[in-house]
Amino acid sequence: MSLYSLTKPLLFRLDAESAHRLVMAIWSAAMRLPGAGLATTLLRVEHPILQTTIAGMHFSNPLGLAAGFDKNGRYIQALARLGFGYLELGTVTPRPQAGNPQPRLFRLVEDRALINRMGFNNQGAEALAARLRQTPRVVPLGVNIGKNRDTPADTAVDDYLACFRLLAPLASYIAVNVSSPNTPGLRSLQQAEPLAQLLSALLSARRDLAGQASAPTPAIFVKLSPDETPASLDAALTVISAAGIDGIIVTNTTTERPTSLRSSRHMEAGGLSGAPLRERATAVVRYLSSSLGGRLPIIGVGGIDGPQAAYERILAGASLLQLYTALIYEGPGLVAAILRGLAQLLERDGFSSVAEAVGAGVDTKAKV
Ligand SMILES: Cc1cc2nc3c(=O)[nH]c(=O)nc-3n(C[C@H](O)[C@H](O)[C@H](O)COP(=O)(O)O)c2cc1C
Repeated sequence: MSLYSLTKPLLFRLDAESAHRLVMAIWSAAMRLPGAGLATTLLRVEHPILQTTIAGMHFSNPLGLAAGFDKNGRYIQALARLGFGYLELGTVTPRPQAGNPQPRLFRLVEDRALINRMGFNNQGAEALAARLRQTPRVVPLGVNIGKNRDTPADTAVDDYLACFRLLAPLASYIAVNVSSPNTPGLRSLQQAEPLAQLLSALLSARRDLAGQASAPTPAIFVKLSPDETPASLDAALTVISAAGIDGIIVTNTTTERPTSLRSSRHMEAGGLSGAPLRERATAVVRYLSSSLGGRLPIIGVGGIDGPQAAYERILAGASLLQLYTALIYEGPGLVAAILRGLAQLLERDGFSSVAEAVGAGVDTKAKV
């Protein structure tokens, strides 16, 4: 029995947001103790089969932390010690904002799920940039960007540009979040016309950055919602491909409430994540993968909670993976457990790398 499973009943008596803060404060403090590096070598799974290169970035393994867990980049070193291949920080907005009133994060324990309506509570792009300037890079760091709640739709592009200009020189990749359900109007930026305008502005800002000889330029990924129809996914894909974006992250949380949910909290407003999202998120990966035919990498996220789920997402077409909710239920040993199990599954089926298995389970007529 792990230390986490012993402390979980106590933690779960706290409200979900306080428990998150407490665990991260303890873990960060523990990681500063002498000997912490040695102790966490157990959590590091190094296996050549797990190494992969996506959009010019090298990853020692394909499993990353999803956005929302460390919005302000406060726990980068401590989270990297869990064995993640990369971390996605944010979502940040240009100006700091408080987010929605609490409570705004709910555990659906019977469903191994969470509902959140955080509403982009964050300290702002400048605070994250300041932390990143002082942080040594141990794993690739993505930065997820969005717009402030009170920014009107017709100037949303300016918010993304402000975040991009500040954070792009400090990030391995920028994730363009047009899919969180908790900022009114944000998801409409997935529609073809506003999406085309937003992406063309960001790509032009990246070209400007590339023009300044010393500045490194990050990859740009777009993060989509699981609640789009096939027609709107097709339209978004056309725009994304034409714009020259480097990858697609699928999926964000869902506003759907599957009838299978058992927890009393299941009708709380917000985005649902965790096990009940798994099937839908996998279907979206499979659908995009069959449309894309390998032209763009897909980053799969939603309900990944073990080696089998991770492997299935890769077979469905994901080149990289992310998770959030399962970490709350399974604890810090989960990352190493997934990576060990994933390496075994790949070997069992005769693959010599993650890349070789990507999309190996996709039939060409995948439905969503
Ligand atoms: C509490 C919470 C906060 C989140 N905040 C963000 C966010 O700020 N930006 C974002 O793009 N996704 C955010 N997400 C969505 C996750 O990044 C992920 O897409 C989703 O939870 C599905 O993965 P999971 O089932 O492994 O949790 C958040 C999720 C949770 C549970």
